[in-house]
Amino acid sequence: MAGEPAANVRAEPGAGLKIPRHVGVIMDGNGRWAKMRGKRRTEGHVEGVKSLRGLVEHCINYGVGYLTVFSFSSENWSRPPDEVSFIFNLLRRFVASDLQRLIRNNVKVRIIGDRAGLDRSLVRLIDDVEDKTSANTGLTLVVAFNYGSKAEIVSAARHLAREVAAGRLAPDDIDETRLGDALYTAGLPDPDVIIRTSGEQRLSNFLLWQAAYAEFVFVDEHWPDFDEDSFVRVLEVYSQRDRRFGGIGATAI
Ligand code: IPE
Ligand code: IPE
Ligand code: MG
Repeated sequence: MAGEPAANVRAEPGAGLKIPRHVGVIMDGNGRWAKMRGKRRTEGHVEGVKSLRGLVEHCINYGVGYLTVFSFSSENWSRPPDEVSFIFNLLRRFVASDLQRLIRNNVKVRIIGDRAGLDRSLVRLIDDVEDKTSANTGLTLVVAFNYGSKAEIVSAARHLAREVAAGRLAPDDIDETRLGDALYTAGLPDPDVIIRTSGEQRLSNFLLWQAAYAEFVFVDEHWPDFDEDSFVRVLEVYSQRDRRFGGIGATAI
């Protein structure tokens, strides 16, 4: 027995893989997933929540520090009102069903996006989730809801302009740190990898500033099909990337 590894010992999840500190996900393809199965688009969104629940768990198990998910964009208002209100209700349902589990799993939740465009009860709910998980020290789950990166940058620019106009800031004091601190994502590290499901290869107004040096991984699966194996495949791809940040990188002679 001694020295013999037990046959059922599992390697640490992610052993041998580089684990990104911050993962961003554009959860795309719920509608197509549903359509392929003859279901309504909204059923795709319901399934998408299950994938999100799974991914939160995988991020915890694999040691990811921050997970930012794109769940409703400022452009998604152009969808049929029924679909929009369904997605809004899904956020409420997710909070109702998952808050206790998130607290138990030491997950800290942060919601980023334009709150002025949300109704008061939803804003209260969001504040409450952030509040109840604020002391948690495990995974930070950032939900981008009613989020648009251009609007985020505009609002940061306005904030800094007001500071300058009030004489509290000199124009030359505006640098990358100050602008970054005026974004919704203040205090979060930039994403190391951004995953987009469903085959589209675009950012659709997600984390434009923050993605300056992110690795992009595009996968063909629709979001509801994205599972642990899909996540591990992304980690494998990410582990192979040579991140150079403008330098000459690890593979240079
Ligand atoms: C992503 O899936 C979820 C949201 C944008 C809210 P989609 O609803 O965009 O699904 P497709 O892209 O139409 O298949
Ligand atoms: C991006 O997906 C927004 C979310 C995943 C929430 P979309 O489906 O809205 O993006 P486009 O319209 O295909 O670019
Ligand atoms: Mg889409």
